[in-house]
Amino acid sequence: MGGSTSLFTKKQKFLAGVVCSLIVLELARLALSLLRMTANASPLAIVLGAVLNLALLLKYLLPVWQPHRKWLGWLLAANLAAPPLVVASSFVKISQSGNNPMGPVGMIVLVSITFTLIMLLSPQFHLLRGIIRNKSTEKTAGKFSIVMLIIASLELLFGDTTWYSVVFNTLISVGFTIIYFTWPVLSRPILEIDTPTKENTPMQQIRFERTAAPKQKPDQNKLGFGKYFTDHMFLMNYDEGQGWHDPRIVPYGPISLDPAAACLHYGQEVFEGMKAYFGVDGKIRLFRPEENMARLNLSNERLCIPLIDEALAVRAIGELVKTDRDWIPTQDGTSLYIRPFIFAVDPQVGVRPAGHLIFCVILSPVGAYYPEGLNPVKIFVENEYVRAVRGGTGFAKAGGNYAASLKAQQEAQARGFTQVLWLDGIERKYIEEVGTMNVFFVFENEIVTPALQGSILGGITRKSCIDILRGWGYQVNERPLALEEVLEAGKAGRLKEVFGSGTAAVVSPIGALHCDGETLSVSGGEIGALTQRLYDELTGIQWGKVADARGWTRDIA
Ligand SMILES: Cc1ncc(COP(=O)(O)O)c(C=O)c1O
Repeated sequence: MGGSTSLFTKKQKFLAGVVCSLIVLELARLALSLLRMTANASPLAIVLGAVLNLALLLKYLLPVWQPHRKWLGWLLAANLAAPPLVVASSFVKISQSGNNPMGPVGMIVLVSITFTLIMLLSPQFHLLRGIIRNKSTEKTAGKFSIVMLIIASLELLFGDTTWYSVVFNTLISVGFTIIYFTWPVLSRPILEIDTPTKENTPMQQIRFERTAAPKQKPDQNKLGFGKYFTDHMFLMNYDEGQGWHDPRIVPYGPISLDPAAACLHYGQEVFEGMKAYFGVDGKIRLFRPEENMARLNLSNERLCIPLIDEALAVRAIGELVKTDRDWIPTQDGTSLYIRPFIFAVDPQVGVRPAGHLIFCVILSPVGAYYPEGLNPVKIFVENEYVRAVRGGTGFAKAGGNYAASLKAQQEAQARGFTQVLWLDGIERKYIEEVGTMNVFFVFENEIVTPALQGSILGGITRKSCIDILRGWGYQVNERPLALEEVLEAGKAGRLKEVFGSGTAAVVSPIGALHCDGETLSVSGGEIGALTQRLYDELTGIQWGKVADARGWTRDIA
């Protein structure tokens, strides 16, 4: 059992190497300049020089120091002071050396012009401006290396230059160029809006209408789940005789419905739930979107909804996310929730499959599911209400399933439990799902998740967990699992871990199962090691921290 996966991609390792080399170079430069200064400078100048150099140094740590990116703005601001000071000191040296043909006024003018140029050219300035204006100008980012080269040449021409300062400056500017142009974390901390227009994007079939009134973006620390929606939405209509037509991205807003619309009366509605992630490398990723669209068609088929073109739907979602990319939250654990849904709008109160429908996709920036780390939950084993029954719609993601589950959830929560464990609708004997998640039981010698037999939703996270666990060498069985078997194993100490799996939480450790007045504690109420490992692996893939060996993610260009 077991296995190992590298935490970093090859590119990340290479860039980490560049960053480390730059840190070493910068340290060497700091040491050498301190040695030089101690020979002929005041203690204040030495301290200032050291602080300045350390500020420069810290910047290199930022790309590999993700959790602390909120300090980026301050460090960039501090760092902005460095190049002008270096240039100023060069000029002072020049004037002191008596080689100054311009006189004091000419010197001040030249210094001011140089300062301004350096400010405008430096990527720190543009990144800082990007942070303030929530935009970034990637194109100018590499220019800092040119400024460094100019400084190197200035030192060479006028300063008391040494061979090492020129070599160091050159190497550092080359390093900068590599980092800024190849590591999007630094060059694109805030996304530039790449506006899709009819002329310049491959969106010929998807009409685009940009909002004239962009909304204020919410505070990233108070996102919660599904409370805020972005500026745009995707719409497409189905009309009998015409099929699915007029795919379009339009401003987010109310949809007007006839009060007789079929979805309002008979719940002919299906939906999906997926996410876009802002990776630690600055890339935006979707996780297995083709699987979601395939499942949407499975639900469509069950609810007599005309099938959609899955490839078009994936492309539409990609374009919509791209359009509202500056809404994707960047803080740890946050993401952009994507909600595709289809509903019947026939204005006729009669029970029959609809001939007129709307496919809509909306986006919602959501907060971290576990702001304080993975928390085991207490689960109530539900043996009165059922979620679904074989032959029904349990395997489909239909709105009605969720309406039917509210009562049990409400009662369980009133009793102090987070969610319910659903049992099969016929014998109330076999385990099906937990809340709105699939469920896994880790026994001594096998991991079991209930087999999909018609009443369970086939989760994409479930499928991914099975693949990863099997890849790690675990024996994972999809089979009917009786509650009795779980309780017995729990009492005998053979039940090691239990967790739920789903897009929202990824994996959710279960610390206790309450059944018929008795509580079975699992993993001592703590998160199990395997659950944690699986969480780290899946979230690692989604946020670009772990190599995506299976090709599950799709980059949004
Ligand atoms: C009833 C139910 N089961 C399981 C899942 C997990 O599915 P997925 O992993 O695709 O999110 C969901 C998802 O939201 C769900 O609603």
